[in-house]
Amino acid sequence: MKIKNNTHLSIILGLVISFSLMGPEQLSAQTVWLDQLDLSVATQGHGTPGSNKSVDGKTLTIAGKTFDRGFGTHAESSLLIQLDGKAIAFTAQVGIDDEVAGRQPAVEFIINGDGQKLWSSGVMRLGDAAKSCLVQLAGIQKLELVVTDGGNGNYYDHADWADAKFETTGVTTFKTYNPVASEPYILTPQPSAKPRINSAKVFGVRPGSPFQYFVAATGDRPMSFSASGLPKGLKIDQQTGIISGSLSKAGTYEVILGAKNAKGKAEKKLRIVCGDRIALTPPMGWNSWNCFANEVSADKVKRAADAMVKSGLINHGWTYVNVDDFWENNRDSKDQSLRGKFRDEAGNIVSNSRFVDMKDLADYVHSLGLKIGLYSSPGPWTCGGCAGSYGYEKQDAESYAKWGFDYLKYDWCSYGNVINGLPNNDPSKVSSLSYKGGNELNTAIKPFKIMGEYLRQQPRDIVFSVCQYGMSDVWKWGDSVNGNCWRTTNDITDTWVSVKNIALDQDKSAAYAKPGNWNDPDMLVVGTVGWGNPHKSKLKPDEQYLHISLWSLFSAPLLIGCDMEKLDDFTLNLLTNDEVIEINQDPLGKQATCVQTIGDLRIYVKELEDGSRAVGFCNFGLDRMEFSYKDFEKIGLNGRFQVRDLWRQTNISEIETKSGELLLKVPAHGVVLYKFSPAKLME
Ligand code: GLA
Repeated sequence: MKIKNNTHLSIILGLVISFSLMGPEQLSAQTVWLDQLDLSVATQGHGTPGSNKSVDGKTLTIAGKTFDRGFGTHAESSLLIQLDGKAIAFTAQVGIDDEVAGRQPAVEFIINGDGQKLWSSGVMRLGDAAKSCLVQLAGIQKLELVVTDGGNGNYYDHADWADAKFETTGVTTFKTYNPVASEPYILTPQPSAKPRINSAKVFGVRPGSPFQYFVAATGDRPMSFSASGLPKGLKIDQQTGIISGSLSKAGTYEVILGAKNAKGKAEKKLRIVCGDRIALTPPMGWNSWNCFANEVSADKVKRAADAMVKSGLINHGWTYVNVDDFWENNRDSKDQSLRGKFRDEAGNIVSNSRFVDMKDLADYVHSLGLKIGLYSSPGPWTCGGCAGSYGYEKQDAESYAKWGFDYLKYDWCSYGNVINGLPNNDPSKVSSLSYKGGNELNTAIKPFKIMGEYLRQQPRDIVFSVCQYGMSDVWKWGDSVNGNCWRTTNDITDTWVSVKNIALDQDKSAAYAKPGNWNDPDMLVVGTVGWGNPHKSKLKPDEQYLHISLWSLFSAPLLIGCDMEKLDDFTLNLLTNDEVIEINQDPLGKQATCVQTIGDLRIYVKELEDGSRAVGFCNFGLDRMEFSYKDFEKIGLNGRFQVRDLWRQTNISEIETKSGELLLKVPAHGVVLYKFSPAKLME
């Protein structure tokens, strides 16, 4: 009762103060409901902001109580509202929506006014009664309604600002906004007509394995290729630029690659390391999941491979064409093309009717100069409920090799059920995703060790991509199970919140990246993505530049996740910048970490083989930053450096780190990506 009286008293006081500040034309107070404003500009983790509805489109419900009006959002989330001092107070009932029952969500509602925290709900959990919020807003220009994940790092939180409304000084609406620019703009210059060789400078292969390296080069066609100093067993096709054969002896071989056309000639050194390790630079390619999800087919995969060639991406080093989940038969899909026996009488895995001939598919992709990848789970079922490899690991590794696959993504999914001791073939008892055992080292390692061993025994090199979302610090033991890359975090989506949170979580594993071992922050979310519901990436253009820059700095596997037949100019510009890709593919194999923060600006530095450093000035904040930077020594730079803007491929200036300064202009949610090369290298 007391609180209620105080609430009323505060509103009356607020009104009195505000009216006394107003001109005579604005004397009637108004109520403006939050749901009357444009909520579509809100940034949120998943889904679409709901006006009077929850994220799942249902009636807003908090702890059993329903609300007709409000804003249903998905934590984390942020909504900016321009008040211009014309609001008196904001009231709402906040809480977690009951539709996430069964999970363990936690959130915190926060209200910021002109950069100051005005109110916070404290951490709220599912089932907590809605909390009343009342905030005085007299004089406030900009309001931000924020929902955080309450510190649990959980991706499932649905949060409601129910009954949310403003008392205003008389205005009848407010503008909501998102300060991140939305117009795409192209930075990558068109490639020169002269040849430029873009494929990696180092390549690892095991003795006896079939060798396939494509000399990726831009420039006018026709082009002819050469490779001098090739060791015995290898040959180059001068027309296609494919080096093939096999090496019988371990050793390191220095080769000079050449590419020639009517406009000129390019050369590049390639180091072939025949030994124990493969994937000496992060794998680059495409994966079907973010685009097609459960609608993938051999035909779509072939078309993606064709598009890799036709779009010219192949000439920038893009290589793998990877089939994700749903090439196997499914346990419970209604789609008949996914129904059929999981294995033949001999226990060999059977592909579904959309993938009639796996060997034919692999041969086709190889014939284009590309490589091909596949997906499975150590559990009885994949995450999508298709047949997994549990109990058949050896046979599966042999099938992949026999068909000619070059890459396996091996996804934990239902393996937790195996630890539970549930029968591996009783669909009714096995869930598709069970994390059980993933956080205990022995059980976490075991299934990957088994498959890692079998892959290693095959007569071809198969990149082993461990996928278990970072459980048990996989980066510490991934190499010991023959892993070449491993997911460090949960699944990505095409939202700023997802990309930001994944990016902020990469430093923990950075020290473990090295040639042959890469931390994997998940696939790229640029272009037309959608997991079966195609749409343009919801990331703003600057967010996409930041995403690609960070993944390059992280030495992350670069797997395009979009529809390859719908590549637009902006997306191609993101994926064809050879100087940005070169940072990712640097042979030293170091991963950038954040070495300095200035407010929301995070400065990531990656050491490069030639003594240069790539530096990403990454603005995670909502305000554009323009300032003069001079802390070079703090980021490990001492001496004279040539500074190059990698996206624009232009030299900026030469600086002396003791006295020099750089004027930096970094867009909101954007990046400035520079390379600092010791001046003596440039002489
Ligand atoms: C998991 C993985 C995704 C994708 C799906 C397929 O969620 O993390 O990358 O492979 O499974 O079902």
